[in-house]
Amino acid sequence: MTTATDTSPFRTHEAGHIGVNDVPIERRMFGIGRVGDDVKVAGWVKSVRDHGELIFIDLRDRTGVVQLVIDPSDAAEAHQIAETLRNEFCISAVGKVVERATHLVNPNLATGGVEIRVSSLELLSRSDVLPFQLEDENVDEAVRLKWRFLDLRREKMFGNLQLRSHVTQVMRRYLDARGFLDVETPILGKSTPEGARDFLVPSRTRPGQFFALPQSPQLFKQMLMVAGVERYYQIARCFRDEDLRADRQLEFTQLDVEMSFVTQDDVLDMMEGLMKQIWSEVAGIELDEPFIRLPFHESMLRFGSDKPDLRFDLEIGDLGEAWKNTEFGVARATLDAGNAVRVLVGPGGGRFSRKDMDELTEFAKQFGAKGLAWFIVEEDGSLRSPVVKFLSEAEQQALKDVAGAQPGDAIFLMADTDLVVSRVLGALRTRLIEQLELVPNRPWQFAWIVDAPLFEWDEDRERFTFAHHPFCQPSTDTAQYLETEPGKVIAEAYDLTLNGWELASGSIRVHQYELQQKIFQVLGIDEAEAEEKFSFFLRALKMGAPPHGGIAPGVDRIVALLAHEANIREVIAFPRQQSTFDPLTESPAPVDAQQLKELHIKTDLPQAPAAPSA
Ligand code: AMO
Ligand code: AMP
Repeated sequence: MTTATDTSPFRTHEAGHIGVNDVPIERRMFGIGRVGDDVKVAGWVKSVRDHGELIFIDLRDRTGVVQLVIDPSDAAEAHQIAETLRNEFCISAVGKVVERATHLVNPNLATGGVEIRVSSLELLSRSDVLPFQLEDENVDEAVRLKWRFLDLRREKMFGNLQLRSHVTQVMRRYLDARGFLDVETPILGKSTPEGARDFLVPSRTRPGQFFALPQSPQLFKQMLMVAGVERYYQIARCFRDEDLRADRQLEFTQLDVEMSFVTQDDVLDMMEGLMKQIWSEVAGIELDEPFIRLPFHESMLRFGSDKPDLRFDLEIGDLGEAWKNTEFGVARATLDAGNAVRVLVGPGGGRFSRKDMDELTEFAKQFGAKGLAWFIVEEDGSLRSPVVKFLSEAEQQALKDVAGAQPGDAIFLMADTDLVVSRVLGALRTRLIEQLELVPNRPWQFAWIVDAPLFEWDEDRERFTFAHHPFCQPSTDTAQYLETEPGKVIAEAYDLTLNGWELASGSIRVHQYELQQKIFQVLGIDEAEAEEKFSFFLRALKMGAPPHGGIAPGVDRIVALLAHEANIREVIAFPRQQSTFDPLTESPAPVDAQQLKELHIKTDLPQAPAAPSA
């Protein structure tokens, strides 16, 4: 008689599916192993416990862990092999599923009610001594990345990969069902202006010339609209040579989307539907409310940020009106100059020491503050502060009212230009949320930030630059200011934010050649430069370009938030360190002289390239 265990070279069952209740068919590749079944499993040794006679092995595959028991009296050869095993050796085992005695049931293990009585054991491959134990949660990042293939064996990391795969699967399904076409666009291309530095790739066949890796498929997706595709998406790799942060990598993934003959509302509704679908399917969370829409200026004024964390109700208050007659020096001078005096409450901040306040003041200064006034609301409602003596009773009351402060709270006051006050109090808001360990009012708070300015004033270059990218449509009621007061022009652009992160960005695009040229003029890009950089695209705009718009959510950020990870590195299989180095492949790295010669490239370095180091 042949059994499944004879015909399969490696396994007949997955470790996590032995002795458990039904696992949905789509989540398993084999059957469920029941008590009495002969099974063959394969995976890694999570641990070996040698009890003299009996040897117990926790065998792990990606579905979970099952216990193997090897008794020398009925499996002498297997017992000999088991004695040589160490953690992370790769093995397969044949045996019978048996129930554990009641007192040996492990309630912490899904398969803990059973174990496999092993009849034979095969060593598939050995492992060197491990650089870290997989259970250790405090392994140095560089070590984890150098040994990423081991790091990814951890249950949590595999879970993150699974989650990511699930998210992109929902994205594809949602968009496929709505008639979107998945179209690939080139990686070797020409610079796209998304505001970051390009990665360049030298051309061998055209010496001295370079390809640029795409910062996003922006211009290609717009040309697909000119081509009549109407609904496009791509899970697109993007490349930007910028400083890495918790939410930034040199290469990252966007769900890139573009649609023709749509309004801003159409794009927002489509994306909102997709986010709700993802949260529902992947996390089992029903986001019932429509997403908030917050105008950019209001967001800056109330929260000091264009990606405010709205799980917290903390708001900046304006004292301009209530304090219009104040004699407090800094405030008086600031108001007279037409600038802003605003306050932020720190709930529970009454416990801050003098040293805490000094640290917070230093923190504010890093963001451009000249000073930060602070007040503590005592139990009796009175204020304690080095500057309280400059304030009338009425001003003190107004301060508490505008800040929304209660006894036991702290109040922070900033006087400066609109821009500086928003920047500083916005940063302080984030810091206070952390430092005071404020409890969010809700777990997820999506918000659309709309009506942002089309241009930003660049102090250094003394001219306007684009706030998002140069292809955004000006709003109908502000387009008239393009030539006269560009700073007043509002873009038909939108950002999707979640819990203080920018998740997605998009806009309705300019689809008329003449308007695009006008925008380039404001940006100081003359016709010759526009021709040189984007002639292909301008040509397309002259060939019956349809009205169109789109958006691009960052896949890494969506998955990181769903996985409750603070850094997108945790949801990318092979990411880079903050320093942009990859300790696994040791890239970037020097190349052969011959390779450089072929590319006609000479480096101009004070010394030879440094040997790779973490
Ligand atoms: P934007 O530059 O705002 O827009 O990028 C869109 C989204 O991509 C993600 N993202 C990143 N994720 C990880 N690392 C990075 N370095 C990084 N940079 C951006 C963010 C961001 O919201 N072409 C436009 C989109 C459009 O207009 O349709 C664009 O790229 O989640
Ligand atoms: P000064 O008159 O500069 O010594 O400042 C008096 C108090 O006001 C100190 O507590 C400063 O921290 C605070 N202060 C100074 N400049 C500002 C400002 N621009 N906004 C808010 N508070 C300030």
